[in-house]
Amino acid sequence: MSVENPAVDWGQALASIESAVNPHIGSGKVADYIPALARVDPNKFGLAVALDGGEMHALGDADESFSMQSISKIFTLALTLKQIGDDLWERVGQEPSGSPFNSIVQLEVEQGIPRNPLINAGAIATTDSLVSAYGGGEAGADKAIADLLQLFRRLSQDDSIAIDLNVARSESDTGSRNRALGHFMASFGNMTNPVEAALSAYFRHCSLAISCRQLARAALFLAFDGTDPETGEQIITKRRCRGILAVMMSSGHYDNSGEFAYRIGLPGKSGVGGGILAVAPDQGTIAVWSPGLNQAGTSMVGSLALGELVKQTGWSVF
Ligand code: DON
Repeated sequence: MSVENPAVDWGQALASIESAVNPHIGSGKVADYIPALARVDPNKFGLAVALDGGEMHALGDADESFSMQSISKIFTLALTLKQIGDDLWERVGQEPSGSPFNSIVQLEVEQGIPRNPLINAGAIATTDSLVSAYGGGEAGADKAIADLLQLFRRLSQDDSIAIDLNVARSESDTGSRNRALGHFMASFGNMTNPVEAALSAYFRHCSLAISCRQLARAALFLAFDGTDPETGEQIITKRRCRGILAVMMSSGHYDNSGEFAYRIGLPGKSGVGGGILAVAPDQGTIAVWSPGLNQAGTSMVGSLALGELVKQTGWSVF
């Protein structure tokens, strides 16, 4: 999978994105089921594009930290595949769910095996595997999170990246649905740790605070077959990198994945903090942030910005 390589006039591309999104800034609905997220200013907008060789282009609030939320599921998936390999796929599927991110309905019919690692149930199961890979229990959860954080800091080349513990606490305080998903999977024997241990790691990785510039930089390995193009560090194998991008394309936006693939044509992942990560194979990564969401939990203005970006760059995997 790779995209065309037309020369992009970034000055012009960013100006077009800015005029396309300006009339819409503030639209959509800020997530309020996690109280700490409801307090975010809906008028924020930032975008960063990271290219091979450290080149970076940015717009608006690209240096302001936001809550990564479900975008973190991509990095957790990468680290889990690195740690336990394809065994993960015995307990988590690779199919789109066509259902909301926190839905429980398919889990009963499908014997506690979540459809994919990007819906909440699948991400909780994936995180559970990761916690086990680090020895299990609360201690395993702490070690897994410490390693994930270290990976982020290395990839983004910024040691200041941290977990927002207020957001993590807020998620945990209101996390009945995620607890239900965890216990439901446990009832089918698809949890290897106490549900609370897996969730404590899950809530923390969702609560990573990161800026568009840091996120675009950290994800660059996904655009270059699993290897960071600047440092040469192989984060995951080429085969697994392609697999992650395939899952992002088919499930990265839950019941909005088909429309996103049709309109944007790039693997992407949304988060209810209003961030979206998109990957243009062999070209670079795009991180965009604007807190107002559509009904599937994807940033409305972020999605508009990506629509204009692919128009300006010609980037598409198709
Ligand atoms: O578990 C949750 O509900 C949140 N921590 C993450 C959900 C999310 O970001 C959905 N994506 N758009």
